Amino acid sequence: MNDMGMTPPVPKRLLGWYSANQDEMPWRGCGDPYGIWLSEVMLQQTQISTVIPYWHKFMAHYPDIKALAAADEEAVLEDWAGLGYYSRGRNLHRAARQVMTDHAGQFPEDPEEIRSLPGIGEYTTAAICSIAFGKNLAVIDGNVERVICRHQTLSGDPRKGDTKVQLRQIANTWLCTDQPGDHNQAVMDLGRKVCTPRNPDCENCPIAEDCNAYASGDPHRWPQPKKRRPIEKQQWISALFICGEELLLFPGNTELLKGHRGPILSRVTQPDGNIEQALKRELKERTIPLQEILGYGDPYRHSITHRQLEVQPILCRWCGPIPEDVKKIVPHAAGKLPVLHRKAIESIMPLLSNASIGDHAEGITDEMHS
Ligand code: ADE
Repeated sequence: MNDMGMTPPVPKRLLGWYSANQDEMPWRGCGDPYGIWLSEVMLQQTQISTVIPYWHKFMAHYPDIKALAAADEEAVLEDWAGLGYYSRGRNLHRAARQVMTDHAGQFPEDPEEIRSLPGIGEYTTAAICSIAFGKNLAVIDGNVERVICRHQTLSGDPRKGDTKVQLRQIANTWLCTDQPGDHNQAVMDLGRKVCTPRNPDCENCPIAEDCNAYASGDPHRWPQPKKRRPIEKQQWISALFICGEELLLFPGNTELLKGHRGPILSRVTQPDGNIEQALKRELKERTIPLQEILGYGDPYRHSITHRQLEVQPILCRWCGPIPEDVKKIVPHAAGKLPVLHRKAIESIMPLLSNASIGDHAEGITDEMHS
């Protein structure tokens, strides 16, 4: 309540709370539409603490749209390695090239032009427009959905039908402010830090006073739980070819990690799950002769969106000429590869240190584990 004994409107309380409680993020206040766009793309499906070092790396390697557009896709994906959801990195790069050709290198301000860039949907458009250009567009992400559904006790699926329409109306009504960027970030921060899915901290919420879910005594009842896509278990092999001290990186052309070089990935589709058969079939399709299997790494699990992969690493020796489209790295440089590949390399390291494989292998292992 204020001095007049009145509860200020929701947007006022949200902004007051935000000015006292906002988290520091390097892109906040940077005023650069490019840096804000980069942060919003990285933040799709990824936690802030994970994004921060990647954001710094991209701003250092590609300080502006021109630099990003001029880079090779492979270099950009290499820098993206570890962030996951690689289509975001690919789209980011394509969008930078589109901004160079269609907008003379200037990040567009018009929401429709922003929305037409690869990898940018309704949410990211609203976030960039409000934060970078002060436009009155309300952001609705999972956090905002939760805050509004609870405050207004909206039942039903927040992504469908009437509930979706009501949610949008309320988000637009709340937004009426001359600080749309701060407002949007305030609601997102509130959803992430206070109005959390499992343990909402209603005692410290600036809008609890008129929150219907809080008044009900059971705020968890909103929003309606999301219907989760079922997890599909899949079996894969990762064939790692070693040539002397070096590991061969093949162009990524399976449905997993398309565009990323790495060991050869192949899905095991045989009903009996025969690993060697899968390897032989894959190599035959690629007209790669199988020289020698040196050993098997420990199988590991890796999740990609709705898939849970069980991956069997197989270490093979490569003899003879290296194909032109294959690159070589020393295993300790694997840090630049996607996590799925890094795990495979980690798992075959003990095999590399086996004296029978090569004189140089022990040195490589020490570096990798240091
Ligand atoms: N989630 C996505 N973008 C955000 C932002 N700018 N602030 C807080 N949370 C976010």
